[in-house]
Parts: sequence; C-alpha cells; structure tokens
Amino acid sequence: MKPFVFNTTKSIINEPGALKNIADICRQNHISKPLVVTDQGIVSVGLMAQLEEALKAGDMSYDSYADVVADPPEAIIYKALDVLKAGGNDGVIGFGGGSSMDTAKLVALMAKSGETLDDIYGVGNAKGQRLPLILIPTTAGTGSEVTAVAIVTTGETTKAGVVATQLYPDVALLDAELTVGLPPHITAATGVDAMVHAIEAYTSARLKNPYADMLAKQALTLLSENIMTATHDGKNVEARQAMLLGACLAGQAFANAPVAAVHALAYPLGGHYHIPHGLSNSLVLPYVMRFNAVEAKTLYAELAPFIMGHAVEGDDDTVTNALITHIEKLIVDLGLPNTLKDMKVPEADLPKLASDAMKQERLLMNNPRPVSEADALAIYQAAF
Ligand SMILES: NC(=O)c1ccc[n+]([C@@H]2O[C@H](COP(=O)([O-])OP(=O)(O)OC[C@H]3O[C@@H](n4cnc5c(N)ncnc54)[C@H](O)[C@@H]3O)[C@@H](O)[C@H]2O)c1
Ligand SMILES: [Fe+2]
Repeated sequence: MKPFVFNTTKSIINEPGALKNIADICRQNHISKPLVVTDQGIVSVGLMAQLEEALKAGDMSYDSYADVVADPPEAIIYKALDVLKAGGNDGVIGFGGGSSMDTAKLVALMAKSGETLDDIYGVGNAKGQRLPLILIPTTAGTGSEVTAVAIVTTGETTKAGVVATQLYPDVALLDAELTVGLPPHITAATGVDAMVHAIEAYTSARLKNPYADMLAKQALTLLSENIMTATHDGKNVEARQAMLLGACLAGQAFANAPVAAVHALAYPLGGHYHIPHGLSNSLVLPYVMRFNAVEAKTLYAELAPFIMGHAVEGDDDTVTNALITHIEKLIVDLGLPNTLKDMKVPEADLPKLASDAMKQERLLMNNPRPVSEADALAIYQAAF
C-alpha cells in the first residue's frame, strides 16, 4: 500500500435545524464575538436573519460582512479582514456557498497570522495560526467546509488557491433547513460539482487512498440517490440533508485525493464567461471521462453501481460507456445546459480555453491520463 496522510475537519455536525445551537457552538470553540462572512444572496433569502436570530437568542454579540461575491477577488478578502479588525472579533463564521466559506477561511487565517495573500498563495506557504472558524454551507457542492483550500480570483480571468492545513475549520455545520430554498439550477449544478469531486478523488493519480475511496463511494451513493429529488422537490429536507452530507464526504475525499482534468478544464469557463463552478464542471464532465476511460475504465467501472444505483453486466469498457451515458442523461434530466454552444461560448475561443486549461498544472498532475493542449482542445470541441 502507498503511504498517505489523511486530514479533515475535527468536528462535523449533521442535523437539520442545528443552526439554532450556533451560540453554544461558538462558545465551545472559544468564540465570544464572531464575524459572520456571507453574501447578499444569503441576506435576500432570509438566511442571514435566521443566523442572527439564533446568535441573539443565544446571547452572542457579532459583526457581519455580507458583501462576498461569487468567485471572490482579492479586494473582497481584504475588505472582510478590515471589518474584522474594526470589530475586534475573536472568531469567524463562514455562512453560504464556497465563495463565502473560502473568504471566511482566509480572513480567519490572515487576521491572526498577519500574512498577506501573496505570502500564502500555493501549497503549504501559510505559516501562522488562524482564529477559531466555523463553516456553515448553504449549498451542497464545494465541500469547502472540509477542505484545506480557498480559491481567490486574482485577475480578469485567473484564479489562485491557498492550500494550507490551517484552513480546515474547527466545525462544519450541516443543516439542510438552510438549503431548502436553493433554486433548482443551483441545486443541480452544485450537486454535480460534488459528484465530480468524488469521481475525480477516486481516480486521482498521485494521492488516491483507501479513506478517500470509501468516502467517494458513500458520497456518490447519497448524491446520486438524492440529486433529482433535491432539484425538483426542494423542500424535501431528507433529500437536502443527504445532499449536504454527500457533498461533505466528497469534500473530505478530494481534500486528500485531489481533483484533476474536469476541474482544470472547468476553471477557464468560469474565468472567461462567469459560468458558475458546478455548471462548468458539468459541461465538460462526460467528455473528460471519455478521454480518461483508456486509463481509468477499471476505476470508473468500480464506481458505476454507486452512481447508477445498480450493477451493470459486461467488461470495463461496457460498464464505463453505460456510466458515461447515464451521467449525460442525468445532466439533461436535471435541466442543466449541456453544450458550450448553449452557454454562448464562441467556437473561436476554444484554443484559448485549451491553452488556459494547461496552466492548471496543480490539477492536471492528478489526472489518470496525461492531458496535452491538443487533448484539451479536442475535449472542448467535443463539449461544444
Ligand atoms: N475551497 C474549496 O475547496 C472549493 C472547492 C470548489 C470550489 N470552490 C470555490 O467555491 C466557489 C463556488 O461556490 P458555490 O458553487 O457554493 O457558489 P457561491 O458560493 O458562489 O454561491 C452561488 C450563489 O448561490 C447563492 N446561494 C447560496 N446558498 C443559497 C441558498 N441556500 N439559498 C439561496 N441562494 C443561495 C449565493 O447567494 C450566491 O449568489 C468558487 O469561488 C469556487 O472556486 C472552493
Ligand atoms: Fe469543484
């Protein structure tokens, strides 16, 4: 067996309605006045009011920064940090999707360590400690509540990641009552993102390990069984809680067995056309799987029953083909657009996207099959 290290979030609370205990959870984690980091979407659907009510009911004073934007740029991180410094907060609550949670992670770290983003971009460059940190996802997707990663938009179309074990929060709180109002298209796209995390962790070339494998399979069972219900019957709390837990398990898997070419090819779509992260993944997923099948068909065949819900007869090629066809149909049934053309991506841009995807070396090195620029272009053409 290959040597490996497995890290994850220390405490995971999985309970519909658990938000009401947030003040006690803060105190248990030595927070007396948290900064809540969130976005205007969360405010406008009334979720922020629920969190404030729970904090007040538990006699906890707090401050908030509610102006995170999707794919947060550097300036947003620094603004949130200024608010924390002004409020003298001794802990951070990240409340929202990946964008709010990633901002909260960085603020908690930079507030205590004094490091700047430029100091900490990359893997293992953060040296200091962070403030106590609680993450509460309101989408079942990124798994950011259990990853050591925070993604920042650095230029017009470029993103950079901070990867550091300090970014694992003290607590991940999974409360499905917060996700019942998530619109169908966001439920579907973020759910596919979570499925991609599990699939890419299971086929991860360098750091695949038995814990991640186990988590990926359980994640895919929960996500596949519940994604249609959660998308089309959003108020179903049981399906919503299963999606949150599935996304969390997938996050634990890919935090230790990192994602690969699906994410590498998805990032330029987000960067150039602001296509949401989950949808970008969904658009290229079947085509990357077809490309990878030569090397990864045995692993794909192993995953097929967990995604399809039943065994498929035949050799690895047959099972992998059936799995990819199943995923293509799932994307359509979820109501997600399924071609780059549908997303108004100009065909003439495909070579530029392929060249951008090659910059995601951090991800491509995990792919089960090496990807050249010509391969990336062929995948985008197939997805067009
Ligand atoms: N840290 C990681 O490990 C990791 C992994 C993957 C992606 N990411 C990053 O996460 C970000 C994407 O996160 P995301 O897909 O969760 O989307 P997001 O955080 O950008 O949120 C998308 C939209 O959904 C709204 N929303 C969220 N929850 C809602 C709810 N319950 N009801 C109604 N509206 C709601 C938000 O207000 C926002 O407008 C990107 O920046 C991506 O790079 C991070
Ligand atoms: Fe992702």
